Amino acid sequence: MKKILITGALGQIGSELTGKLREIYGRDNVIATDIRKTDSEAAANGPFEILDVMDAKSMGEIASKYHVDTIMHMAALLSATAETKPVFAWNLNMGGLMNALETARELNCQFFTPSSIGAFGPSTPKDNTPQDTIQRPTTMYGVNKVAGELLADYYFHRFGVDTRGVRFPGLISYVTPPGGGTTDYAVEIYYEAIKNGTYTSYIDKGTYMDMMYMPDALDAIIDLMEADSAKLIHRNAFNVTAMSFDPEELAAEIKKHIPGFEMIYHVDPVRQTIADSWPNSIDASAASAEWGFKAKYDMSSMTADMLDKLRTKLK
Ligand code: SER
Repeated sequence: MKKILITGALGQIGSELTGKLREIYGRDNVIATDIRKTDSEAAANGPFEILDVMDAKSMGEIASKYHVDTIMHMAALLSATAETKPVFAWNLNMGGLMNALETARELNCQFFTPSSIGAFGPSTPKDNTPQDTIQRPTTMYGVNKVAGELLADYYFHRFGVDTRGVRFPGLISYVTPPGGGTTDYAVEIYYEAIKNGTYTSYIDKGTYMDMMYMPDALDAIIDLMEADSAKLIHRNAFNVTAMSFDPEELAAEIKKHIPGFEMIYHVDPVRQTIADSWPNSIDASAASAEWGFKAKYDMSSMTADMLDKLRTKLK
């Protein structure tokens, strides 16, 4: 990776990925793009272009202008929003991906896009979900993710595009909040714990989902992109995870730091149904074996760091 174009660079992953890549590869070698410009660091501290990923022509022009050799396609609608706007989700998630893959093919770029635990469904084995298993998701987001995994494989086999990807679990960070996801509760809870000492969870107790702290997610992207191509058997859509918990366990962990913290439950049927259709925990052994994936943070070290960083941020 020398010249990298990122779509969705101001989103939850993109905003931190941009900074990290600029540290490693140099400020001018990472071109951040998003549909809007904000005064965030990713937009201010290096090359930035407004880009709607549905606009194939502009994507091609920006990629050519900067002579990029890597595309990281992060722009997408998350699971809960996709359920409220399924047709728009299909158009944006699939249209954007096709445009990004085509740009990568035309300019001979290495390519990364994230899949998700959302690519699994109710008929998938729920515990220690294998890398290769049944994928019949029941959400529009999941349908998009499975189609995306297949498309990325297709571009590798058919056109030789060096496509790579992981299935991310819920990602937790203190920098940019996620928007419209099912796992977002595990981020909101920290903000509310500090601000109000209480959180109303829209996900019910007993609902286990995989999660990962953002520093591990960024390392996973970079390590996979730098991995020796010859060692990759799966290439796309590697299961990766760091921990699995339910809202009650997370609340108990936060209580260790904020003893008065109180959790209330007010379940949102839409997001609960999505969460119920996803695995309790996934098996990341293929990622470990093929490119050495290993998460550093567990629920307790992540919670200590999140609370510490957020206390400073919210001061
Ligand atoms: N965090 C995502 C969501 O909840 C899962 O990929 O939609």
